[in-house]
Amino acid sequence: VLGLECTARRVLENLRDGKYASVVVMAGAGISVSCGIPDFRTPGTGLYDNLQRFNLPTPESVFELDFFRASKGEAFYKLAKEMWPDNFKPSPTHLFVRLLHDKGLLRRAFTQNIDTLERVAGVPDDKLVEAHGSFANSSCTRCRKPFDAERSKNAILEGKTPIMCEEPGCGGLVKPDIVFFGEGLPAKFGICSSSDLPQADLLIVMGTSLTVHPFAGLVEMVPPDCPRLLLNMKPVGVRIPSEESNGLRLNQPENWRDAMIQGPCDEAVRAICDILGWREDLEALVES
Ligand code: OAD
Repeated sequence: VLGLECTARRVLENLRDGKYASVVVMAGAGISVSCGIPDFRTPGTGLYDNLQRFNLPTPESVFELDFFRASKGEAFYKLAKEMWPDNFKPSPTHLFVRLLHDKGLLRRAFTQNIDTLERVAGVPDDKLVEAHGSFANSSCTRCRKPFDAERSKNAILEGKTPIMCEEPGCGGLVKPDIVFFGEGLPAKFGICSSSDLPQADLLIVMGTSLTVHPFAGLVEMVPPDCPRLLLNMKPVGVRIPSEESNGLRLNQPENWRDAMIQGPCDEAVRAICDILGWREDLEALVES
């Protein structure tokens, strides 16, 4: 069982005792690693360390709009075929987010993940912001018109790519609606982040390196008295004391609100559920 430092324990006891009612979750690729989906930046196993076969200028190029257009999507379409989110089961961590909703505590879950596993876990659409989109729909990268999702999926899975927009005179490339570098985030992200973060009374950040903006900036939008609990393999988003930033104050003097449970997030949520008295509920969802 993971050791809980005192701030984490106090925050969780407050949650158990009903002191928070508006919990916001921020999630990243780390929460799907135990489902068999690699994250992006873990050295060795992360996706960006395993793209040599595509001969990319940089690993991130595979998700860059300019490179996608210039290369007619060659690398991306192949990668999308490999990454297509079929047949994955949610992790205990996804199910913990669902439990927060079932218990009436979840204000919103913001995820960077495109694997749709929060939906599969039963987090309802109105409680979920898929900030980097998902594979569920496709559209043209030039005229932005939606393209039939099933046809786009089949073309990618059968290698019948590039997929060209069929709007008269357009000829743009079609891709699944996952957000590339160089593209805006879904409108729902802006609307929900500006309404939810200032109203949060507990922020739980899980399985993300907090490197990609604007998502990473959400940690700075909660009220100054809102505790921020990080569940991650390693410390991330930590405030640099010499800078003005409002990053996490883990292990820093005068920190009373930011806490981390370091290690695999599935173990962390089990330890959390033990404190909250939710362990049976969690395991029932895992078994179902
Ligand atoms: P990263 O790969 O950058 O970070 C994943 C984090 O999860 C790392 O800090 C890992 O240490 C941690 N981690 C890995 N396994 C874990 C586990 N079992 N339990 C807990 N923590 C674990 O992934 P993201 O932060 O999600 O964007 O990446 C953000 C964005 O960068 C992605 O959405 C993607 C990428 O470029 C786009 O493609 C637009």
